[in-house]
Amino acid sequence: MNVSAIDSTATVDNDCVDGGPQLVSRLEGNGITATDIKKLEDAGYHTVESVAFAPKKFLMTIKGISEAKADKMIDEASKLVPMGFTTATDFHRKRSEIIVLTTGSKELDRLLGGGIETGSITEIFGEFRTGKTQLCHTLAVTCQLSMEQSGGEGKCLYIDTEGTFRPERLIANAERFKIPGQTVLDNVAYARAYNTDHQTQLLIQASAMMTESRYALLIVDSATSLYRTDYSGRGELSARQMHLARFLRMLLRLADEFGIGVVITNQVVAQVDGASMFNADPKKPIGGNIIAHASTTRLFLRKGRGETRVCKIYDSPCLPEAEAMFAINADGIGDAKE
Ligand SMILES: Nc1ncnc2c1ncn2[C@@H]1O[C@H](COP(=O)(O)OP(=O)(O)OP(=O)(O)O)[C@@H](O)[C@H]1O
Ligand SMILES: [Mg+2]
Repeated sequence: MNVSAIDSTATVDNDCVDGGPQLVSRLEGNGITATDIKKLEDAGYHTVESVAFAPKKFLMTIKGISEAKADKMIDEASKLVPMGFTTATDFHRKRSEIIVLTTGSKELDRLLGGGIETGSITEIFGEFRTGKTQLCHTLAVTCQLSMEQSGGEGKCLYIDTEGTFRPERLIANAERFKIPGQTVLDNVAYARAYNTDHQTQLLIQASAMMTESRYALLIVDSATSLYRTDYSGRGELSARQMHLARFLRMLLRLADEFGIGVVITNQVVAQVDGASMFNADPKKPIGGNIIAHASTTRLFLRKGRGETRVCKIYDSPCLPEAEAMFAINADGIGDAKE
């Protein structure tokens, strides 16, 4: 039997993985001190990649880091991380190595070209009860499966802003994939976020955890709900968008640095512009351009008959706008039974 979920005790030392993220402590020396490294870590920069990819002005906002020091850090980090041009052939080969995580539904996987892509952000949006949270639960389990089973052989980090995370749902999914329920639960790190600052702070912890063991997926369910409560007034819109943009930038950085999949959920609101009268689908996702730009793949869920749901590709750089039907079953996301 191929019970191949990752073992919670067998954590991978990421700093030793070929081509994987490198711990920021490697920058020590050449005028960068242990104290500087500590400052970087406290600000959420745990890997050499995170420093290499950061704009200088971000590093300079860290207390005690001067412009000269920031230059030095970026210089040293760039020596360890390839950041120039490569041929399309190399890029193509790298893309073919991208891991996709099965959704539990064959139809949905086919629509997505295999499943949820790692290394970028996938946004799932739709009205209430369309299955966003259920899909998150199934992915929290499938990311633990072996590569042969279309998993990611890694743990899951789950940030819940609405209090709808249910371990029982993970256990139900685990049985179906023949992994012991206990293993599945041990491999999901869960945090409830209470406000938008807290939800951002959790990502700093997340990056530290990812340097210590192999995570395959980070879920934020939902990415936007706390923004609606923390910033309610019209006058707060630009402050809200700026905060949300920063949160999404941090998510992108994690996807990039650690090659993990990032799945965020989002609700829809009625469109207020006059055109909605002529629009067959008057609902649109929250967060505007900020979310649109950060998410590489955007999936729109809507209800079908009974327990069936329909997923439509709303925006993707390489998938056509198409639809697939799936079902929410007692043991998680699956195919609709005909
Ligand atoms: N144990 C279960 N067995 C079968 N179906 C279930 C089970 N638990 C929940 N569901 C189905 O999942 C649906 C709810 O889906 P989900 O919670 O994922 O919605 P959502 O899109 O996250 O909604 P919201 O916007 O309110 O967060 C319900 O309609 C219910 O039919
Ligand atoms: Mg939900």
